[in-house]
Amino acid sequence: MRRAVCPGSFDPITNGHLDIIERASKLYDVVHVAVAVNRSKQGMFSVEERIALIEETTAHLDNIQVESHSGLLVDYCTARGIPAIIKGLRAVSDFDYELQMAQMNHGLSGVETLFVPTSPTYSFLSSSLVKEVASLGGDVSHLLPGVVHARLVERIAERRK
Ligand code: PNS
Repeated sequence: MRRAVCPGSFDPITNGHLDIIERASKLYDVVHVAVAVNRSKQGMFSVEERIALIEETTAHLDNIQVESHSGLLVDYCTARGIPAIIKGLRAVSDFDYELQMAQMNHGLSGVETLFVPTSPTYSFLSSSLVKEVASLGGDVSHLLPGVVHARLVERIAERRK
């Protein structure tokens, strides 16, 4: 089985993430989507909610496994026999930090990182920008899967109460 991991915070999953996961799913037998647990950062959604949204929005793909992980990503990979990390690159500005992480991860464990160029449609897209725009009343419905958009709008309304 050829395995790869798409890691991230996914708070929440966007159409940009989904595009990368769908493309990875065509290249590998099994694609693990690893949701990073960051105890020092309060998210908009809990890790369990993020996982549920990823599972719902990738239900049309038959080779996706969604899990949370804490600690080093390369330890997650080594424990599961995953030799490759797939990352979307949106713009040159992503490259510096992504290259550092890729080199560190390879040096630590031999796990490779493969960069996939993000679709130009999503090159400006990030979960944090989507949350900011939605919180200020902007329309982000075209940037998120329908179910995710509905949950985000709900969550923002709940937080206003
Ligand atoms: O969606 P994000 O927040 O840009 O994802 C970043 C993520 C989770 C992929 C990255 O921070 C990560 O791999 N964290 C796991 C901890 C780790 O291995 N850190 C060392 C990276 S060299």
